[in-house]
Amino acid sequence: MINMGKIEQSNITETLSAVPATASVPRHVAIIMDGNGRWAKKRSLPRIAGHKKGMDTVRSAIETCAEAGVEYLTLYAFSSENWKRPDDEVSGLMGLLRHYVVKELGELHKQGVRLRFIGRLEGLAEDIQDILKSAEKRTENNSKLTVIIALNYGARAELIDAFKDLLDKVDEGQIKADELDEEAISKSLYTKDFPDPDLIIRTSGEERLSNFLLWQSAYAELIFADELWPDFDKKCLLNAFQTFSKRERRFGARL
Ligand code: IPE
Ligand code: IPE
Ligand code: MG
Repeated sequence: MINMGKIEQSNITETLSAVPATASVPRHVAIIMDGNGRWAKKRSLPRIAGHKKGMDTVRSAIETCAEAGVEYLTLYAFSSENWKRPDDEVSGLMGLLRHYVVKELGELHKQGVRLRFIGRLEGLAEDIQDILKSAEKRTENNSKLTVIIALNYGARAELIDAFKDLLDKVDEGQIKADELDEEAISKSLYTKDFPDPDLIIRTSGEERLSNFLLWQSAYAELIFADELWPDFDKKCLLNAFQTFSKRERRFGARL
């Protein structure tokens, strides 16, 4: 059984049972966790306090997804453009990242979470890279839920890296240029081991993708929630799943 933290088990069961039995739970949920800064500002707190509070929401989202039967959860934690923020915010975020992975690893492992990280990880401090590698290694055989954390991630950078990888494959004769197809491109992305997201949620009322999973989001359902990320609790996430279950996905086809 998953540790439900501060939320009572009975509440979860109650909220989960509010989702119709026939509801189709998304196999892969991806979240743009936005609004930490505004959450802090509303309380006259430093921005980092919002990021810290946002970590609690990460914990709760992981638990809810595991409980609901989601197989993959991708979390946009730091974009390749977020380096443009003030140095103290960037170093505060990196500090929280170190702390989060080290502190939560045991519990995540116990919950059966497989951790994976995507993005230009080589651009992160070396000690962080080591922490991420050992977290991936320790959890590699877990199968309850794969949690993919996007760090120093930008979809355009990912596509550039994929094109370079494909050009190398063509040069080495592993693939012919006229054989390039969607599958070959998908297999060159950081997300090659994962299915495309079925549902992308962005919190905080902003309605844009901000360079997130541009290739993979081709047929994802999009949900923009008004709540700021630190306020996006289990009920909000389950509501999003319910909205998703009512969407008609067509993938361009008609009967
Ligand atoms: C999202 O919250 C977290 C990161 C981008 C790292 P923000 O820090 O963007 O919060 P707002 O958008 O300024 O409220
Ligand atoms: C997107 O949020 C990145 C993450 C949530 C990690 P931002 O707050 O950086 O995006 P913009 O600047 O509002 O587009
Ligand atoms: Mg933001």
